[in-house]
Amino acid sequence: MTLDYRNAHLLLDSSSIQEGSVTWRSPSNLALIKYWGKHGQQLPRNPSISITLQEAYTLTRLSFRRREGVPSSAISLHLQFNGHPEPAFAERMSRFLDTLTEIFPFLRQLELDLDTVNSFPHSSGIASSASAMSALALCLCTLEQRFFGTLENREDFLRKASYIARLGSGSACRSVYPVIAAWGRHGSLDGSSDEYAIPAAHLAHPSFHTLRNTILIVSSKSKAVSSSAGHTLMDQHPYASVRYAQASQRLGQLLPVLRQGDWESFGQIVEDEALTLHALMMASRPSFVLMQPQSLSLIARIRQFRKETGHPVCFSLDAGPNLHVLYPEAASAPVEAFLREQCLPLCEQGAFIADRAGQGPSEE
Ligand code: DP6
Repeated sequence: MTLDYRNAHLLLDSSSIQEGSVTWRSPSNLALIKYWGKHGQQLPRNPSISITLQEAYTLTRLSFRRREGVPSSAISLHLQFNGHPEPAFAERMSRFLDTLTEIFPFLRQLELDLDTVNSFPHSSGIASSASAMSALALCLCTLEQRFFGTLENREDFLRKASYIARLGSGSACRSVYPVIAAWGRHGSLDGSSDEYAIPAAHLAHPSFHTLRNTILIVSSKSKAVSSSAGHTLMDQHPYASVRYAQASQRLGQLLPVLRQGDWESFGQIVEDEALTLHALMMASRPSFVLMQPQSLSLIARIRQFRKETGHPVCFSLDAGPNLHVLYPEAASAPVEAFLREQCLPLCEQGAFIADRAGQGPSEE
C-alpha cells in the first residue's frame, strides 16, 4: 500500500495566523548498507541501514508569519545558512518546498524564514543533506501538528517526517530515528517500506548503541560527484541488478550480526559495502575514483592494527575520500591511541571528527 499524504484540508483561516517559529536539531547518518541507485519519486533500488550520528547535526529554525495578499503557487522563503544567505541552497530548499504544497497547502499562506546551521564543516564527508532535510521535514510536521493537531501520535509523526525527508534527500529519511534506522522493503524487516525509514535500534545488541565513529578527514574539498549524479550512474550500470540483490542479501546477513553483537562479522560486511560503493563508482561511465592515496594507506593501517591487536575496528566510506572508523566504546582507549599516532598524521592538517551512535533528532 502506498501512502498518500496529500490533504487539501490543511489550510489556515488567514485571519487567525499568528507569527511563530519551530526549531529542530537533526543528525546526519552513516549508511552501513548503502543506498545507491533510485527510481520514481526518490524510491530506493535496494534497502539500506544506517547509524544515526550524534555530533554531526543541523539545527534548523523555521519561522513563519502571515503572507499578505493572494498567495501565488510558489512558496515565499528566505534562507540563511550558518548566518549568511546561500543562494544555491535557498534555491534547492525552495524547489523542495514547492513540491510539498499538496501535502502541506498551508505553506503557501505563510512567509517562511529558514535559519540553518551545521555543527560540522562543509564537505567533511558527512552527509549534510541528510541532517538538513530531516530537520526541515521535522519542522514541517511540527507546524502541521501545531496548526491542525493531526500528528498527535508519535509514530505517525515520525513516519510522516521520514517520508517527507526522503522526498528531500533519500538518506535523510533514516535520520529521524535514534541509533539505527532501516529504509527500503526487506523480507526480514517487519514494517519496512521504500517510502520511509523504520526504527531499528531494538534489533541491535547494546554494544552497537554506543558505537564510536571517528571520521578521518583526508580531504575537505567538495565531492567530485554529487549523490544525485551518482545515483544516476547506476541506471546504466553493468552491475546494477547484481548490486541491488547483493545489498538486500548483505542486509539480511547484517541483521543477526547486529543482534548478536558480532563485531567481527560486522566489520567484514561494513567494509565490503564501503568498498563495493567505490568499486561501483570506479566501474561507472563516466568513472570516478573518489579515494585518495591517504584513504588507501589508512585502510591498510586499520587492517594491520586489527590483525595485530584483535581489536574490533573497521571502516566505512561515503561517496568521498574520508574514512569513517567504527569501533565499540569498550575498545575506544586503544583504538583512539592508534588513530592519534598512526592515522591523524595522514589526515588533512590532522583533521578528524569524533562522533558516535546518537539519540536521534530533538525539538529545541
Ligand atoms: C553514498 O541520500 O545523498 O551516502 O537521494 O539524491 O539526495 P539523494 O542522495 P543521498 O545519497 C546517499 C548516498 C550514500 C549512501 C547512503 O547514505 O545510503
